[in-house]
Amino acid sequence: MSFRSVVVSAGGTREPWDEVRFLGNRSTGRQGCEVARAALETGADVTLVAGNVEAALIPHGVKVVEAPTAEDMLRQMNAAAAGADLVVMCAAVADFRPVRITGKITRHAETIPTLQLERTPDVLMNLIEHRRENQTIVGFGALTGSEAQVREQGRKKALAKGADLLCVNRVGDGHGFATETNTLIFFDSQGNERGQASGTKLEVAEVMLRLAGEIFQSH
Ligand code: CTP
Repeated sequence: MSFRSVVVSAGGTREPWDEVRFLGNRSTGRQGCEVARAALETGADVTLVAGNVEAALIPHGVKVVEAPTAEDMLRQMNAAAAGADLVVMCAAVADFRPVRITGKITRHAETIPTLQLERTPDVLMNLIEHRRENQTIVGFGALTGSEAQVREQGRKKALAKGADLLCVNRVGDGHGFATETNTLIFFDSQGNERGQASGTKLEVAEVMLRLAGEIFQSH
């Protein structure tokens, strides 16, 4: 089973604090770009909703939509997902953003500024709530800890999120972010483990697409 129209988000968001500063993360967008590449290889139409992605990683042949912040990601993913039969939420979207300050914070401020945070929208949950008929939704989960802890927390996260497939990877200690290889453990919406893949980010993306196709067909 291959999907006709695929939307993939990639990269980290940057949440502005003032005119020049932002709160970001270390995601390069490589895993999302490789999901897009793997989907292109199957012959699908692919839209990449790009947070902050290294330009050289973007495969030729995808339609790129920019979404630098969590709020942009919510808007652009909802718009793009309307016509997609597979939606993959690979972006490292901020969970919190600074309460925005107008202008630029100066060094000469009388008191040292405090970074105040507020919640961002959960894009994946939003997509799941507004899922169109026959649409498959895949999420990612970055977890820290031992392999056993990651497995246990991954299962719980899969149950809580309700995505058709949740791809869990271990981050920290050189795993996951800004690396060329990845290990993913796959869970379905019932929290059942559906397999594991290790290899280049393209290889694990290919396994993910195959599993997503199987799940789609079994519905
Ligand atoms: N995600 C999202 N919107 C957010 C944060 C995350 O859509 N504001 C998506 C990510 O793209 C990923 C999934 O949610 O597909 C899991 O993200 P992760 O940060 O690992 O988990 P959280 O839900 O944020 O939970 P926690 O930080 O507690 O692990």
